[in-house]
Amino acid sequence: MRRRERDALVVARIVGDVLDPFNRSVSIRVSYNSREVTNGCEFRPSAVAHQPRVVVGGDDLRTFYTLVMVDPDAPSPSNPTLREYLHWMVTDIPGTTGSAFGSEVVCYEQPRPSIGIHRLIFVLFQQLGRETVYAPNWRQNFNTRVFAAQYNLGLPVAAVYFNCQRESGSGGRRVPQPTD
Ligand SMILES: *[C@@H]1O[C@H](CO)[C@@H](O)[C@H](O)[C@H]1NC(C)=O
Repeated sequence: MRRRERDALVVARIVGDVLDPFNRSVSIRVSYNSREVTNGCEFRPSAVAHQPRVVVGGDDLRTFYTLVMVDPDAPSPSNPTLREYLHWMVTDIPGTTGSAFGSEVVCYEQPRPSIGIHRLIFVLFQQLGRETVYAPNWRQNFNTRVFAAQYNLGLPVAAVYFNCQRESGSGGRRVPQPTD
C-alpha cells in the first residue's frame, strides 16, 4: 500500500478500530455513479442510495475475493454499540473483474447515519478458494477481524473509506486528514 493511503487509514483509526496494519497488494476502485471513493471524502446518503461499482485488480480470474462494507460508528461514533454494522458483502469476485461478477451474499443497505459522521469502509480480502466464504446471520456487531479469521482470509489486500452524515448535517466530529 502506498504510504499516503496507509496514513489515511491510520489517521482515521480504521487501522486500529477495524483492521490490523496491512500492505495493499490488490487495487480496488469504488465509485457511486461516476464519483470515485477516496479516503476521507464525503458522500451524503442520497448519493449512496444504490450499491457502488467496484472494480478489483489482482492477477487472474482464478483468484477470488470477498468485499465487505462496514460502519464502525453505528449508531453513533461516540457510542458505537452496533460496531460494526455490515452494509454489504460480495464473495467470489474473480480477480480482474468487479463486484458485479461475484455473489452478493448480503444485499446492499444504504448508509443513513442519524448521529454524527460515520466512516463507511470497503475491505477486500483474498479467499483461499471459490465458495469458501459465507454470509453471517446478522448485520449488527459484525467483526471484520473475526470474520477474516473464521474463513482464513488473512490480512486485507485493500481498503478504502468515505465519511457519511445525515443529509442536512453540517458538522460534528470530523476525522483529521493527513492533508490538513
Ligand atoms: C508491509 O511492508 C513493509 C515493507 O516491505 C514491511 O516491513 C511490513 O512488515 C509489511 N507489513 C505487513 C503487515 O505485512
